[in-house]
Amino acid sequence: MEVVIVPDAQAGGELIAEAMAALLRRKPHALLGVATGSTPLPVYEALTTKVRSGAVDASRARICQLDEYVGLPADHPESYRSVVLREVVEPLGLSEASFMGPDGTAGDVQAACDDYDSALAAAGGVDLQLLGIGTDGHIGFNEPCSSLASRTRIKTLTEQTRVDNARFFGGDIDQVPHHVITQGIGTILDARHLVLLATGAGKAEAVAASVEGPVSALVPASALQLHPHATVVVDEAAASELKLADYFRATYAAKPAWQGL
Ligand code: GLP
Repeated sequence: MEVVIVPDAQAGGELIAEAMAALLRRKPHALLGVATGSTPLPVYEALTTKVRSGAVDASRARICQLDEYVGLPADHPESYRSVVLREVVEPLGLSEASFMGPDGTAGDVQAACDDYDSALAAAGGVDLQLLGIGTDGHIGFNEPCSSLASRTRIKTLTEQTRVDNARFFGGDIDQVPHHVITQGIGTILDARHLVLLATGAGKAEAVAASVEGPVSALVPASALQLHPHATVVVDEAAASELKLADYFRATYAAKPAWQGL
C-alpha cells in the first residue's frame, strides 16, 4: 500500500479530491464510494469547489454509501443516507437517482444487505472507495474481529464506536443505534481503488496497526494490505506512530507526478 503524509486535513482533502477528479475525467460515470464521519468532509468540500469552478464535470458521477444505521428513519438527519445526500450528493449537484445505499429500514435486514451487494455488482463495482478509520481500526462499520471475507451484513457497534458517534446525536449515547448495515471487508476489497484518510492524533495508533501491523481481523483496516491499489493518506498527527514515516515521505516526494494516487 502507498502511504502519503500530508501537512494537514485540508491538504489531504485536496489530494484525494484531485484523485477523484482525475478519475471522473477518465471515466465520467465512475462509481464513487463515500464514507461518513468528520474526516472526509475536506474531500467533499474540495471536490465541490472543483466542480463549481468547472475544473471537473461530475454530472455523470454515481455515489454509493458504505454503511448505514439500522432502524433510523431514512429521513432522520443522522441516517447515513441523509448525511451523504447533504454532504456529497447535493453539493455536487447530483440527483438522488445517481445515489445508492443499503436500506436501514428494511424488515428483512439480510435481504437488504444481499440486495445492496447485488446492486453494487450490477452497477459495475466501485471505482474508488473513500474510507475513514475508527479509533478501534474499523472501516465502514466492520468492528474488530469482522471476517476479512465478509460481505454486506448487519453488525453490532462496540461501546467505543457508540461513544465516538454520540456527538452526532447531541452527545446522547442512548440515541446511537446499536445495529448497522455495513459493506463487508470483502465487499470493500472489491473496489478498484481504496483511499483511506485519517487525521488527528486520535487515529495514530489505529493507522500504525493497520499499515505496519499484521493483517488481522482484530484491526479491520489492516485488510487494506491485501488490496493491490490501496492508498492511505494521513496528516502528521495521524502519522506520528508510523515507524516507516521517513521512508513514506521520501517515496512520495520522489513519485512521478503522472502516476497520480
Ligand atoms: C463511523 C463510520 C466510518 C468512519 C468512522 C470515523 O464509524 N461508519 O466510516 O470512518 O465513523 O469517523 P470520523 O472520521 O468522524 O472519526
